[in-house]
Amino acid sequence: MDRELAHHWQPDSWQSCTAGQQPLYPDAAVVARILAEIRNLPPLVTWGEVDKLRRQLAEAARGERFVLQGGDCAESFDDCTAEPIANKLKILLQMSLVLVHGLKKRVIRVGRMAGQYAKPRSADHETRNGVMLPSYRGDLINRSGFTAAERTADPGLMLRGYEHAALTLNYVRALVDGGFADLHHPEYWDLDFVRNSPLEAEYRRIVQSIVDSLNFMETISGQPLSESSRIDFFTSHEGLHLLYEQAQTGLVAETGRWYNLAAHFPWIGMRTADVNGAHVEYFRGIANPVAVKAGLGMTADQLLELCGVLNPHNEPGRLTFIHRFGAKHIADRLPPLVEAVSRAGKQVLWICDPMHGNTEATTSGVKTRRFENILAELETAFTLHEELGSILGGVHFELTGDDVTECTGGARGLTDTDLERAYKSQVDPRLNYEQALEMAMRIVARKMRR
Ligand code: PEP
Ligand code: CO
Repeated sequence: MDRELAHHWQPDSWQSCTAGQQPLYPDAAVVARILAEIRNLPPLVTWGEVDKLRRQLAEAARGERFVLQGGDCAESFDDCTAEPIANKLKILLQMSLVLVHGLKKRVIRVGRMAGQYAKPRSADHETRNGVMLPSYRGDLINRSGFTAAERTADPGLMLRGYEHAALTLNYVRALVDGGFADLHHPEYWDLDFVRNSPLEAEYRRIVQSIVDSLNFMETISGQPLSESSRIDFFTSHEGLHLLYEQAQTGLVAETGRWYNLAAHFPWIGMRTADVNGAHVEYFRGIANPVAVKAGLGMTADQLLELCGVLNPHNEPGRLTFIHRFGAKHIADRLPPLVEAVSRAGKQVLWICDPMHGNTEATTSGVKTRRFENILAELETAFTLHEELGSILGGVHFELTGDDVTECTGGARGLTDTDLERAYKSQVDPRLNYEQALEMAMRIVARKMRR
């Protein structure tokens, strides 16, 4: 199939396809007014940044860089405050430092941040005590409280979503530009949470070794390395709510291409990855690097069709598959997909999301994930790609920079009963600060063992 020839793409051409997971708004005129307002507002990211990321992802696909993508399952407007944003940036920076040090590769940092506000749901409705209401679909769409008013899709939330994304990104950019990520800045190394942790000694050792190398380089060159310690930070979210994404899609005169300028690296979730569906239709026309989640149920043929539609020119860096099978299934499910893609000569970047295939409920019904299963899936992913002659070019985590208790295990050995202490996620359980840092260390430790 050559869809490019079959029909011309427009930012709204997806509207003639079946679109899953879209909100039902009560008043179309209000929706149109809000979307017009969003269309007029300035973009959140620039096409130059988007192109730069695409080039870097092409390098990751060749094994020359490594992608660290992470953040909340769903960001909430309430958490758009200084501390959670800074903490999330900080844990991602610290993990990336551990990875740079251990993998000896440059790391591409991508936040699930500044726009991760819309969630796919397995059921359209939720019933409590005999009352049935629409499911909560993320702060971009409705509210989490269980009343009819709160669960009704509110188009005004799209505007609030754009604003909260802009506020988040503004602060992230200020922190990065203001030296938060400068290797000389003490905040960067802050060990608050790691203090008294089983990881403290190891983390200190890594930090000391980086500081030593830095001092050595500065002595040799006779000047501070501040310029070269400036970092890039990119944003990503699930491009789920197509009217909202469309409103932030612009034609760039310099390149003659359409870009989604709401995020650098949008992805298609597992529930909306149908090759004939509206999401794939929208994504095929934007110039951004794009990712698709691949889980149980994704066949090799479907994957190849997605390559054909989303990356017809086989451009490196354009298409990423984020596989998420779960520790139990990855060894059976991943190899046929990787083999098919390699055999067909398709250029893709493989990233492992070890979170979404490992969700389970405790005996008291709390949604959680076990550290050991997350790690097991990740380690199997590295091994399988090595055996198959392909490259695992990155990892994708749900994490927070705060001290929550949502996933069990890790160096501190959190148990099911610990989950009550600080379970904050409205949706999926995230690695806390310490578990996330440990995960980065375990990735590096695996490499050292080999
Ligand atoms: C997610 O990333 O939060 C998510 C819903 O993932 P998936 O589409 O892989 O289920
Ligand atoms: Co999730």
